[in-house]
Amino acid sequence: MSFDVAKVLKERHGENFTLHSDLLNPQLARVLKTLGFDRFYVRGEGCYLYDDKGDQYLDFLAGFGVYALGRSHPAIKQALHQAIDLDLPNMVQLDCALLPGLLAEQLVARAHEGIRRVYFCNSGTEATESAIKFARRATGRPRVLFCDHAFHGLTTGSLALNGGKEFKEGFGPLLPGATQVPFGDIDALAAELRRGDVAAFVAEPIQGKGVNVASDAYWQGAQALCRKHRTLLVADEVQVGMGRTGKFFAHEHYGLEPDIITISKALSGGYVPVGAVMCTDKVFMSVYSSLERAMVHSTTFGRNQLAMVAGLATLDTFEQEGIVEHTRETGEAFEAALAPLVERYEMLHAVRGKGLMLGLVFGKPESRSLRVRWNALEAVRTALFSQMVVVPLFHRHRILTQVAADNMNVIKLLPPLVAGQQEVDYFVAALDDVLRDAHHGSGLLMEFGTTMAKSALRRGGSKPVMAPA
Ligand SMILES: Cc1ncc(COP(=O)(O)O)c(C=O)c1O
Repeated sequence: MSFDVAKVLKERHGENFTLHSDLLNPQLARVLKTLGFDRFYVRGEGCYLYDDKGDQYLDFLAGFGVYALGRSHPAIKQALHQAIDLDLPNMVQLDCALLPGLLAEQLVARAHEGIRRVYFCNSGTEATESAIKFARRATGRPRVLFCDHAFHGLTTGSLALNGGKEFKEGFGPLLPGATQVPFGDIDALAAELRRGDVAAFVAEPIQGKGVNVASDAYWQGAQALCRKHRTLLVADEVQVGMGRTGKFFAHEHYGLEPDIITISKALSGGYVPVGAVMCTDKVFMSVYSSLERAMVHSTTFGRNQLAMVAGLATLDTFEQEGIVEHTRETGEAFEAALAPLVERYEMLHAVRGKGLMLGLVFGKPESRSLRVRWNALEAVRTALFSQMVVVPLFHRHRILTQVAADNMNVIKLLPPLVAGQQEVDYFVAALDDVLRDAHHGSGLLMEFGTTMAKSALRRGGSKPVMAPA
């Protein structure tokens, strides 16, 4: 009898958290239990997850941005089934298979003219690591600049480019020559570039941590400075790329032409891990500069056929369903629907971001009575308010969201790009309900915050890492 996954799932149902506590990461299990997020999900489809009780959850996390096309998209499923049934000669390694070539062709066609070549890997962090190596090799320089609040992955090279302390603690020393500059500060960037030893400026066109946006002028200036000082501009599009912001690449909003572009997440169609580094001919050929160097940078699973099929089927579906235009329209409708809540609720200061990457920015209220509540919460833990909104959104309305970063009162909304007016309306009504309670209501939120603050969230000096992406 061959392995029967349905049978195993049925027989062992309910052991999830015990197994994770005993054999995997027990702290994750603890955090989820503390927040009451410990559900037993059994199915996912489109924008929704379903648990073992048959309850439906609106997934505005989308697997940290992986599920651009929603879960279980029939076109991706069908393509993967077909690929498996074809018994493709996968990972021959000493071979130039067709599918990686076809996916590279599709990706290059969507980028600016200077982007001519693609290196495939398996994840976002691996794409960052590759970009660092490529930039060092192409320029012969050691240093890499990154921004405060940046997130480029958690392996040692990409971790060196992380703009927050919480992820780095205890893992050093990290990559020498990694230097942080304030996001959006052109003078600080200029000062570092002037030293003439910077291989690359690595940046997210819109930052995931906090959904931070910089001005057009900043980006134009940053690109011009990079060109002037012969530093490579690396756009990390792992999260914001592939339609998320209403353009295929987020850097297009600023008219940028990066030397290197990294992508991952959405390219997988939600099924097979994949990452890609797209770059100029000059950069690429500096790495693979001779016969001897044909395999100087590679990874075993890099061009695997299932990842390539998932990528090709995803891009095809993007075209068939007009995903980028749909995202732009839904994003505009979403911002318009949220605007009245910014007017209505003192603690909701702004909505920022582009397309379907939106940040709900909370802050100190004007009125005295609300300020007392706010201050009491913030005294327990910085940015507890946003966590307190995330929790009732989940419990009362079954909506999955996340705080955008530790120590930041911002909730990040990252819906599947196939979300539409129905999902927007449902979310806005739910947020309205939760914020009404927070501003005028029964004190339920206060109770919630205090309960959690007393348990897992209060850790003296150290803060739990709650927002990994
Ligand atoms: C902008 C950005 N770069 C890189 C990464 C790392 O990707 P991965 O988790 O696949 O290593 C992430 C992950 O969230 C990301 O958001």
